[in-house]
Amino acid sequence: MRMSVIGCGYLGAVHAAAMASLGHDVVGIDVDEQKVVSLASGHAPFYEPRLSELLKEGIASGRLRFSTRVEDAAGSAVHFLAVGTPQVPGGHAADLRFVDAAVEALHPHLRPGDVLAGKSTVPVGTAAGIAGRIRTTGATLAWNPEFLREGWAVHDTITPDRIVVGVAPDANGSCAADVLREVYAAPLASGSPFLVTDLATAELVKGAANAFLATKISFINAMAEIAEVAQADVTLLAEALGHDTRIGRRYLGAGIGFGGGCLPKDIRAFAARAEELGRGDAVGFLREVDAINLRRRDRAVQLVVDALGGLVFGKRIAVLGAAFKPFSDDIRDSPALDVAVRLRGLGADVVVTDPAALDNARAAHPQLGYADERDDALREADAVVVVTEWELYRRELTPRHAAGLVRGRVVIDGRNCLDAAAWRAAGWTYHGMGRR
Ligand code: UGA
Repeated sequence: MRMSVIGCGYLGAVHAAAMASLGHDVVGIDVDEQKVVSLASGHAPFYEPRLSELLKEGIASGRLRFSTRVEDAAGSAVHFLAVGTPQVPGGHAADLRFVDAAVEALHPHLRPGDVLAGKSTVPVGTAAGIAGRIRTTGATLAWNPEFLREGWAVHDTITPDRIVVGVAPDANGSCAADVLREVYAAPLASGSPFLVTDLATAELVKGAANAFLATKISFINAMAEIAEVAQADVTLLAEALGHDTRIGRRYLGAGIGFGGGCLPKDIRAFAARAEELGRGDAVGFLREVDAINLRRRDRAVQLVVDALGGLVFGKRIAVLGAAFKPFSDDIRDSPALDVAVRLRGLGADVVVTDPAALDNARAAHPQLGYADERDDALREADAVVVVTEWELYRRELTPRHAAGLVRGRVVIDGRNCLDAAAWRAAGWTYHGMGRR
């Protein structure tokens, strides 16, 4: 099927490459010329396992191309809308200016029978507005939210947990759902469930899913706060809770909390939209979820300060990790970098290292010290802070090896990802987040 993907950021670039790998004929469109040049030469402009491989395969097969010209979308049967919806400057709502601009640019190229499939994360009610705007073109709007995780984006796009398609309850809507069934024939054949809903429900599924995940993480981080004062261990607590199949262990990883380009801004936008709809009280707990999450960063900084005797000024601190999570070079709202920045603000001599996100971190925070190699960051450190649970720190770094490099054997495990007993046995003072 011929299709266009409007917006080639994280979501769009992966979607375009994945659709081509499923056999479709895809054009990815973005206003950013540099991004288009990079993608068209088979290079992902960000770190994402398997993406460059998929881009190269798609381009070589002739099924995948990229362009800055929106008119190249003309003739596609499906147009995926995949532009970003960041937080508005100075507020909590979603900024829809890229969505609006994309719809406006695409409008003259939409033809009767085309399907415009929205993938961007938008406040509920946005889709109905777009459907009204494109009505005169004869194209049909469907809302097809995306649930991919960074670091697993290719896998999540090709074998999604579920495919949700929101359409209007009329004949055009059901035709649009059928078109999307055809688009996703391969994942459907391998068992991904396909749910057809109305437009508003499809928009809500996405916001609700991220709100739930954020709530689950903040729940266990709230338990970590209690565990800290009750002399209990939140990792054992999470394990015990997780065996209850109604609860499950995933997203019960306590530590410095969630960050990235999605969960933080999405829960804020969700709450802001609920306020606009007059039901802010229904999701008032999301403010608490946000507050618990941000408190974890304070707590990590406090642990470092306490571990170094109350003063970090002039102390050399190795910060292992900058990305908001492993398998990503994304530093948007990264708790890891936030901890590093705060320690620097207290006068510490901070040296940050990360296997993927260092260039992004350097550009955003030139005031921090950086080391390309993990061991260079550890050398002569008075304390080590693990803030992104890369394998390089979690499994491949032994306490004995680290001990040979540092000045002080003090480790703060911001992700509860180290073997506390092994580090203590090697003579380290170990501090976890909510662990005894
Ligand atoms: C999240 C959702 O998981 C995706 O389903 C969604 O499509 C995406 O947002 C989006 O809206 O685009 P992502 O931002 O890639 O995906 O990151 P996650 O893997 O969900 O992790 C988010 C943050 O939570 C990370 O900072 C991670 O370190 C933290 N986290 C995760 C915890 O602190 N504890 C956990 O147990 C799990």
